[in-house]
Order: sequence, then structure tokens, then C-alpha cells
Amino acid sequence: MARLTILEYPDPRLKRIAAPVTEFSPELRQLVADMAETMYAAPGIGLAATQVDVHKQVIVIDVSETKDDLRVLVNPKIVRAEGEVKGEEGCLSVPGYYDGVVRAERVTVEAQDAEGRPFTLDAEGLLAVCIQHEMDHLKGIVFVERLSQLKQLRYKARLAKQKREAARRAVA
Ligand code: NI
Repeated sequence: MARLTILEYPDPRLKRIAAPVTEFSPELRQLVADMAETMYAAPGIGLAATQVDVHKQVIVIDVSETKDDLRVLVNPKIVRAEGEVKGEEGCLSVPGYYDGVVRAERVTVEAQDAEGRPFTLDAEGLLAVCIQHEMDHLKGIVFVERLSQLKQLRYKARLAKQKREAARRAVA
């Protein structure tokens, strides 16, 4: 297994749209294993292939406290969404930033596992939010892009300031 490099916002590669997986090959299983290792090491509760610069519809998620409930969603589709929640979200591609995003409270997802077997998942709470967050990545959307224009501008200003400070440190 190998840890993969996670792209950081606003890397333009995070905007690429992921293609459906058509071949359930040993390479796909390797990708899933590497993504899981990368997610656990970060540590994070979810990771989309887009974030490791692989533009295929693959997601790994583990929202359990004990980190022993890995879920693999290949080609996920939300077939039902209900309710509304606003929770604090963070993202491995947006280190150190958290903000509230409105999501559906409950979702039903159809997906395939790493072997191509289809399954249906009813999710609520953190799992439902995490699925929607990761599926956004597959569509090229990072959660900060769901915030108000003002918040996005503030976040970009903060990023620019951090960059300037880092550059100053580098030459000091
Ligand atoms: Ni994310």
C-alpha cells in the first residue's frame, strides 16, 4: 500500500469531473486500498479519488469512532434525499478551515463496491453529510464553493495571507 498526495484547494485539478468506473480491476482495488490508507493517516473520515488526482468515481468513507467501518462507494448515485441539516464541515483538501454547509439530512445511495457488486445504502447524520461532501468532489466541487461569496472571498484572502507569510519565512 502507499499513501497518496492529497491536492489542496484551489488546485485546478480539484475541478475535474470524475468518470464512471467501468473496469473492476486489481488496479481499482489497489487505488481503494491506497485511498483508505491515505484517509486514515491524514486522519480524515472521507476521501474522494479526485483529491488524489485520480478522476474516477471512487469514494472511501469511515465515520466510525473506532476506524474499523470502511465503506467503499464506486459510481455512487443519490436516488433519494430528504430533510435539511447544516453542519460544520472540513476537508483534507482545505486544511484548517471549517464552516457550515447545508446538506440533505438523509440520503439513499446506489453504488458498487470495489468488485463491482451493486448495493443500496440508506444514510443519515454524519454519514449522509460525508457522502454528499465526497460526491461533490467527484463533480469538481470543494465545500468552500458552497459557502456565500463573502465567505469565499474571506477564505481566499486568508489563503493569500498565509502564502505571503510562508514566503517571508522561507527567505528569513
Ligand atoms: Ni473534502
